[in-house]
Amino acid sequence: MNSGSNLFLSRRGFLAVAAGTAMSLPMRPTRASAVDERTLRAAPGQAQLAGPDRAPTPTWAYNDTVPGPVLRLRQGQPVRITVENGLTEDTTVHWHGIRLANAMDGVPGLTQPPIAPAASFIYEFTPPDAGTFWYHPHADSLVQLGRGLAGALIVEEAEPVAFDRDLIWMLQDWRLAADGRIAGGFGSAMDAAMSGRVGNLVTVNGMAPADQGVRAGERVRLRLANAALARMMALRFEGHRPVILAIDGQPCDPHEPEDGRLVLAPAMRVDIALDMQGKPGGRYQVVDDFYDGLAYTLAALAYDQAPPLRVHPPDAPAALPRNPLPEPDLANAVRQEIVLQGGMMGGGKLAGVGGMMGMSGMMGMSMKGMTMPGMNGTPAWAINGVSMTGDGHAGMAPQFTLRRGITCHITMRNETAWWHPMHVHGFSLLLLSRNGAPVPHRQWQDTVLLAPKDTVECAFVADNPGDWMLHCHVADHQMAGLMTVFRVT
Ligand code: C2O
Ligand code: CU
Ligand code: CU
Repeated sequence: MNSGSNLFLSRRGFLAVAAGTAMSLPMRPTRASAVDERTLRAAPGQAQLAGPDRAPTPTWAYNDTVPGPVLRLRQGQPVRITVENGLTEDTTVHWHGIRLANAMDGVPGLTQPPIAPAASFIYEFTPPDAGTFWYHPHADSLVQLGRGLAGALIVEEAEPVAFDRDLIWMLQDWRLAADGRIAGGFGSAMDAAMSGRVGNLVTVNGMAPADQGVRAGERVRLRLANAALARMMALRFEGHRPVILAIDGQPCDPHEPEDGRLVLAPAMRVDIALDMQGKPGGRYQVVDDFYDGLAYTLAALAYDQAPPLRVHPPDAPAALPRNPLPEPDLANAVRQEIVLQGGMMGGGKLAGVGGMMGMSGMMGMSMKGMTMPGMNGTPAWAINGVSMTGDGHAGMAPQFTLRRGITCHITMRNETAWWHPMHVHGFSLLLLSRNGAPVPHRQWQDTVLLAPKDTVECAFVADNPGDWMLHCHVADHQMAGLMTVFRVT
C-alpha cells in the first residue's frame, strides 16, 4: 500500500540514479576531453608585416594574429569551433581540404547562412585525415583573405610520426601601399582577367623574409602552405634536398621534386622532410623563382653553431601513414569534363574577346570596341560555358549530379592562357595523368594546378552527399566566374 508504493518509487528512483551514475560517471571525463573546443574571432587588427621598423599594417585577423592561430587537431577526434564575427560584413569559415559534412563546409548560401556581424556560428566535425590543411573565409573571399584572414589547420596523425621538429610556414602575399596599408582596388578588371592580385610582399608566418633557425643534422617536417590570393610559388632550398611526403595534406610516395623545385600554387600545401645537411654556422637561402626574372629570397636556413645532432643522416624518410580515402573504381566511373575558359588572350568564348591581344591592349585596357573580360562586372571566366561568380550564394544550380558512392573520373582542360589551381571542396582527387603522362607517386590533391593549356585526369569517389564547390583558388578568378557547383545525392 502506501509504504509499499513508496518503497517501490524510491527503489525505482534509486535504481534510476544508480544506473545513471554507473553509466555517466566514467563517461563524463572522456566526453569532456573528447570534443576539442576552440574559438576563432574575425576582427580588424594590426600586424607588423614588413618588419619592426616599418609602419604597422591594418589587417583583418583571427584572434588578433596574422596568420590566424595554428589549429592543431587530432585525426578522428571531434572538434567544435565557435566562429565569432567581429567584422562589419558577413563572413564564414571554410576548412580547406577537410572531408566533412556539407553543412560544415562554410560556403555562404550554399551550405549555411552567412555569419552576420556580431553573430557567431558553431562548426563541428571530426577530421578523418591527418595532414596539413588551412582555414579561411568563404565570404567576400578576395577582400577577407587579402586582408589577412587565414590560418593553418594541422591534423596530427592518430599514431604520432617521428621528426626532430615539426614546422609550418604559412605563406601570404600582400599588396601594400607605401604607407604600409593594404592597397585598395580589390577585384580590378586587370587582376580579374589576368594573373589575379599578386602582391609586393610575401610573409612567412606573418613576417617579412627572416631566418629560420636550424641545427645541423636534424630532420625537420616542414609544412608549406600557400595562402596567397594569386601568387604562384616555386621554392628552391639552396644546399638541401627536400623530400615531398604529402601534397594537400594527403601522403604520397616520398619523392624529390623535379629540378629540386617545389611548386606551390595558391591554396596548395606540401609537407617535406628536410635533412639539415648544411654546416654549423652556415646560412642557406630559400628562393622563390616561379616568375621569370622575379626571383626573391623567401627565407634563409640559419644554422646555429651546435655540432650536428647525428653523425650520419638518418635513412631515407619513410612514407607517412596513408589516410582512409576511398579507392576510385575506374572501370565503373562516370566521366565529367571541366573546361576552363576565358581570361585575356584566352579561349575567346567570353565577352567578345577574340583571338590575340597585343601587350599594349592588355595593359592599357583600351581595346577599341571590345570589352575586357571582367570589366563592368561582366564575368571574365567560365567553366563549361557557365560563369558562376562571387563566393557562393543561395540558388546555385549544380552543373552536374553524382549518385552517392559512384567514382567520378574528371578531365580538366585549361583552354586559357593562365595558370589555375582548381580546388574541389569535400573530396581529394587522385591524380591519374597530366597531358597524357601518368602522374607518379600516388598523389591525392584537393587543389590541382593547371598550367596554360594543360589537361589533367583525376578521379574520386563521391561518398559525401551535398552541394560542393569546385573553383579556381586564385581569388580574383573565382570571383569573376571560374567556379562551379556539383551535387552528390
Ligand atoms: Cu580554400 Cu572554396 O576554398
Ligand atoms: Cu576548400
Ligand atoms: Cu584561375
